[in-house]
Amino acid sequence: MIVILQKMTDHGPEIDSTILLSGHPAQLPPPDANRKDLESKGLILTSDLTAWVGPWGISYTANLTSDASGIGNWKEEQFLYAIKEGKLKGLAGSRTLLPPMPWQMYKHMTDDELKAIFAYLKTTKPINNVLPQPVPPVSAEH
Ligand code: HEM
Repeated sequence: MIVILQKMTDHGPEIDSTILLSGHPAQLPPPDANRKDLESKGLILTSDLTAWVGPWGISYTANLTSDASGIGNWKEEQFLYAIKEGKLKGLAGSRTLLPPMPWQMYKHMTDDELKAIFAYLKTTKPINNVLPQPVPPVSAEH
């Protein structure tokens, strides 16, 4: 996820630039929502746009900063593989990335475009934030 928002206000979302790109803040509780209802209807998200509820359960936007808990230790090949194959951490055999990460669209970027994005991400301020695990859909809990 590219932008982290501080809060939703009456004039729209306010961006907190101090935590840009660091993903869903690990200390926040899971979205307080009627998940059964929401999962059957489609998609909803928290107002900071970092937690998403849908038929896949709950997904949390990734930490893309240069910290070790983000992409700090990734090799360029891993980043290209993550986007092109939709695999967590860009590792063969890892799980497929969950919605709404639009890797099916982003995989059409050229290698040079992806390399440029990765080079930029490597320059970002490191923010330590270990993401919570995604949560399976309520229907899968029974
Ligand atoms: C150029 C823009 C983007 C880049 C470079 C990017 C990059 C990434 C990468 C590399 C991951 C995997 C992290 C890992 O394996 O640890 C990821 C995960 C994720 N991204 Fe994006 N992303 C972008 C845009 C978006 C957008 C627009 C959304 C939402 C609308 C989004 C939502 C997510 C979510 C929810 C995950 C976690 C998926 C999971 O846990 O399986 N991303 N992103």
